[in-house]
Amino acid sequence: MTNKLKIGILGGGGILNAHAPGFVRLKDKCEIVIAESDSGKHARIRKLLGDEVNIYGDYKEVLALPDVCAVDILLPHHLHEQATIAAAKAGKHVLVEKVMARNVEECDRMIEACREAGVTLTVCHDRRYDSDWQALKHIVDSGDLGEILFWKLEHNQNVVTPPDSWIRSKEKLGGGAIMSCLTHQIDALRWYGGEVRSVTSMSKVEPGRMEGESIGAVIAKMESGALALLSINWYTQSHSAPDGLWYEFNHVTGTKGEAYYMSGKGTFVKLHGDKSEYFEYDMRAKEGFKKVETHKQMSGHQSCIDEWVKQLLGEQAKVVTDGTESRKTVEVAEAAYRSEQQGKVVSLPL
Ligand SMILES: NC(=O)c1ccc[n+]([C@@H]2O[C@H](COP(=O)([O-])OP(=O)(O)OC[C@H]3O[C@@H](n4cnc5c(N)ncnc54)[C@H](O)[C@@H]3O)[C@@H](O)[C@H]2O)c1
Repeated sequence: MTNKLKIGILGGGGILNAHAPGFVRLKDKCEIVIAESDSGKHARIRKLLGDEVNIYGDYKEVLALPDVCAVDILLPHHLHEQATIAAAKAGKHVLVEKVMARNVEECDRMIEACREAGVTLTVCHDRRYDSDWQALKHIVDSGDLGEILFWKLEHNQNVVTPPDSWIRSKEKLGGGAIMSCLTHQIDALRWYGGEVRSVTSMSKVEPGRMEGESIGAVIAKMESGALALLSINWYTQSHSAPDGLWYEFNHVTGTKGEAYYMSGKGTFVKLHGDKSEYFEYDMRAKEGFKKVETHKQMSGHQSCIDEWVKQLLGEQAKVVTDGTESRKTVEVAEAAYRSEQQGKVVSLPL
């Protein structure tokens, strides 16, 4: 007899690398079972979760286990809706990796199924749980930057997948890089700066890589009046090269200062108060950006899992990405696609 929470992980592919340490550090509170249909991945799963872990072939087998109280869905995007609804019907609480689903209709059906079943629905938008990304939010929320005028959020990667990968399928992915991964930046923008009022977007497909776009640029007007520029580039090989591009970059300009987060570097702030005429001079002098020390202890994924498990245990938890909140991020990505298809600025909500 164990008092541990029994949690089922559905899917043991690439992103398990980020989720597994989150559960391993909570092994006194959680017992894990996992479903992964590709048996070639089982040895790696045992390395990540321990030799003793029970591995099932299909996620439905885990949903049929009566003592599993909650599931963490790490499946391809086209399975997020069906797995969430099946989990809700089986009475399991749900954590689903970003992106919540391929479109708002799927998100709405997921929210409704969980509401009807009386289970929680949480989306693992890990950036909101990362202390460096949180540091930028604290700066903005403090008001020290004054009125926010402009946001710039970038995502650079080199995404090359095997010929049979679901990521190559526009239908399975829910589009391309914008829906799949610029949703990190869209979600952060909404979290930092409030809701988006309208968007316009353009994208570029490289057919040798995938059916959906590999490159996308979105311009957003915020309800606050600020402007935002978001880009995703899945075609750069330099993001991890010495002196190459950064993986992710969030920059905010306010009337009284500016701040940024850059992956690999951390979060930095430069305040000039009302003395904007001195700012340029100050920059040339020694007084540059100050690093915000965050004393980071764990990744955003680990911290999200930590809060989710607290919520499952009925403890006080800081879960900031429930289904209703995360649905709005999918809505902005959908609006971006609609903008390009229709060749016009699209207003939100859709
Ligand atoms: N937060 C991040 O930075 C980040 C990074 C990468 C991926 N992701 C997200 O993680 C999720 C999964 O992506 P991934 O890169 O791990 O994909 P993946 O293809 O590596 O893993 C998905 C796994 O699901 C398994 N699977 C498919 N059908 C199954 C079934 N019926 N039963 C059991 N297993 C089944 C596949 O065999 C595969 O191993 C996606 O939502 C993706 O967007 C997030």
